[in-house]
Amino acid sequence: MLLLVTGGCGFIGTNFIRLALGRDRETTVVNLDKVTYAGNPANLADAETRFGPGRYTFVHGDICDAALVRDVIGSRPFDAVVHFAAESHVDRSISDATPFVMTNVLGTQTLLDAARQAKTPRYVQVSTDEVYGSLGPEGAFSESTPLAPNSPYSASKAAADLLVRAAHETYGMDVVVTRCSNNYGPYQFPEKLIPLMIRRALRDEPLPVYGDGMQVRDWIHVEDHCRGILLALEKGRPGGVYNFGGGAERPNIAVVKSLLAALGKPESLIRHVQDRPGHDRRYAMNCTLASAELGYSPQWSFEQGLADTVRWYLEHEDWIASVESGAYRDFMRAWYGERL
Ligand code: NAD
Ligand code: DAU
Repeated sequence: MLLLVTGGCGFIGTNFIRLALGRDRETTVVNLDKVTYAGNPANLADAETRFGPGRYTFVHGDICDAALVRDVIGSRPFDAVVHFAAESHVDRSISDATPFVMTNVLGTQTLLDAARQAKTPRYVQVSTDEVYGSLGPEGAFSESTPLAPNSPYSASKAAADLLVRAAHETYGMDVVVTRCSNNYGPYQFPEKLIPLMIRRALRDEPLPVYGDGMQVRDWIHVEDHCRGILLALEKGRPGGVYNFGGGAERPNIAVVKSLLAALGKPESLIRHVQDRPGHDRRYAMNCTLASAELGYSPQWSFEQGLADTVRWYLEHEDWIASVESGAYRDFMRAWYGERL
């Protein structure tokens, strides 16, 4: 399979490309990425030697650049587009929604237009459980739960999902949408809860827990998410939507305490700070459809996955340092400055 992957220099895209190239010798990947503050081409610097010559190509570019996207999609007979590229951090979308609307909405439509013109056989949209909004103490999101996004980030992702749906209904494009819960694992940018807390705990800095810390997320190891996306790519129904979760609902405060225990650091580092505006209280996923139609089931337990992730960050402190650009430090100062 020849795949055009967007956003492959980010957390999930990097893990997906490594999994897709590593599982067989028949897959070839072109990675189109703008390299924003969250993108790191060095994540795949070893791809040529590890997976063999000609199997991985990096193209530096913006998915909103219609001429460039047309050139890239028209340059080779791709079997599918797998679209990860996005502005992905909820807190940043609260500070400034514009890049989210540009990349997540306009960028998605630009890719859809180019894929349709090039007659690319399949298009996979990597989406999120956040499009469904927030749950009460009971129940779980299914694919038929109405979309009710609460942050500018999740609203931009929901808009993109609807554009993908429209491309299927209007032009008959073969599309699949995947919606996944909170990922963790190697190469995650240290603005998201788990790598942020590891990074700060290692430096004995206070750990900012929003509000009471009783918000619940369903944690999934990134490798399980990437396996799910490969299944959706290969077996998903045209026009289908599939939920993926890790079956590991945990309150944030419990996750932070587990990290401190794994790192041998004291709970006195925890600081309850001003909550995130519009903070969703609970997410949980019903993955029955993905299990029945695709044969999906998560392989990692949360405890094993978290221990493995902590080990990865301890062994890659140089990676954390290398992704912390000036833009990272500016955002951290502005967002947490008033909270801590
Ligand atoms: P990330 O922020 O780590 O990476 C995003 C990548 O997209 C970066 O490499 C960045 O350079 C690239 N990018 C951003 N704007 C671009 C543009 N205009 N043109 C080309 N490239 C651009 O994000 P992630 O956590 O790896 O998330 C990947 C996808 O998965 C996103 O679509 C996100 O909404 C979705 N998702 C993430 C999670 C999660 O827990 N992280 C869960 C469900 C779904
Ligand atoms: O659910 C899927 C989504 O998960 C993805 O679509 C997003 O791209 C991804 O960023 C993630 O969104 P969250 O907002 O859930 O992830 P984040 O790691 O930012 O926060 C996880 C929880 O931890 C959330 O309830 C907010 C809380 N939190 C986060 C940070 C950064 C804190 O309490 N303190 C913090 O400093």
